[in-house]
Amino acid sequence: MNSRFLKACRQQPVDTTPIWIMRQAGRYLPEYRSTRAKAGDFLTLCKTPDLACEVALQPVERLGVDAAILFSDILVPVEAMGVGLRFTEGEGPRLEPVRSQADLARLHVPDPVAETGFVMDAVRAIRRALPPGIPLIGFSGAPFTLASYVVEGGTSRNFRHVLGWLYEDPAGLGRLMDLLTETVILYLKAQVEAGAQALQLFDTWAGVLSRRQYREVAAPATARIAAALRGLGVPLILYVNGSAPFLEEMAGTGVDVISVDWRVSLGEAAQRTRGATALQGNLDPMALYAPPKILEREAARVLAEAPAVGHVFNLGHGIQPDAPVESAVALVEVVHRLGRKEP
Ligand code: CP3
Repeated sequence: MNSRFLKACRQQPVDTTPIWIMRQAGRYLPEYRSTRAKAGDFLTLCKTPDLACEVALQPVERLGVDAAILFSDILVPVEAMGVGLRFTEGEGPRLEPVRSQADLARLHVPDPVAETGFVMDAVRAIRRALPPGIPLIGFSGAPFTLASYVVEGGTSRNFRHVLGWLYEDPAGLGRLMDLLTETVILYLKAQVEAGAQALQLFDTWAGVLSRRQYREVAAPATARIAAALRGLGVPLILYVNGSAPFLEEMAGTGVDVISVDWRVSLGEAAQRTRGATALQGNLDPMALYAPPKILEREAARVLAEAPAVGHVFNLGHGIQPDAPVESAVALVEVVHRLGRKEP
């Protein structure tokens, strides 16, 4: 298959700019809320392949996006490593914190098929149900972001435990990073074997690191993953929220696409990464709350800054649960219309 999404990831010419939206399957869609109610809780939804398949298809049908993304969560493989996990209504994820070598000794690298087979079943079900021209993106959290959840025990405001551990005992935290890196490699390989045609690594919280810390801690783990997946022939996308200080280091990891947030223009990102990778992004998710004319102007601004080849339109971060559905629908239409290339 050579869809416009996969072509753009490979920096090949396309008829018009492809678009998908981070967190496109989610609570802003009434049909998501209805499937989620059938499942009961969020983790059950992730672990029921038929329902995960249903919600992954909803944005393809409702918005007309150019790619689907696996429906799951970045914390699913972490639970399989042996970290207790639950999602509490309105509070987000809660994990049993890992803060010592003794805690670490209780974790293992899971066999992705034996221990998270429901994810691979969901990949197969979604691939089977998608129209042939719409590729399926598999994903994983990147090691630093997963480490931050595992060490903090949830979402954090200041990341003091994981950053404290990094200052106090970098080799100890390095062992956790190694365990996570190994887990991510096997987990992503299994998704490709099940039918994923592109992969995205979410290093959402790596933006809390200094440039030096990113270079020393997060980038080497990402580079190991990119090297291990290179032979599979599927494009690898790397997303970091707050990546302005280290776009050069991200390009140096060997990924195929860099997904940038809204704080840096795509023009600056292209210049700093010297066109080495395709770029994904980078509309401010808050633009979806603006009236249609302003949303169109902002989308046009992103398109004007984008490289001539190798651009996948997306938001600079995930769509919010209360974003208006009509704005998401309008955005896809606007990008396809304004992104059209002269033949
Ligand atoms: O993009 C998609 O449509 C695919 C599915 C997907 C989800 N989470 C579903 C989800 C993906 C790719 C993720 C990734 C994810 N999960 C990230 C990285 C991306 C980002 O947005 O930065 C992170 C940090 C997580 C961890 C996580 N999962 C948090 C912090 C929360 C709670 C936040 C909230 O809005 O409640 C989740 C829950 C979650 N993951 C939901 C969905 C649809 C909401 C669950 C619900 O139905 O209540």
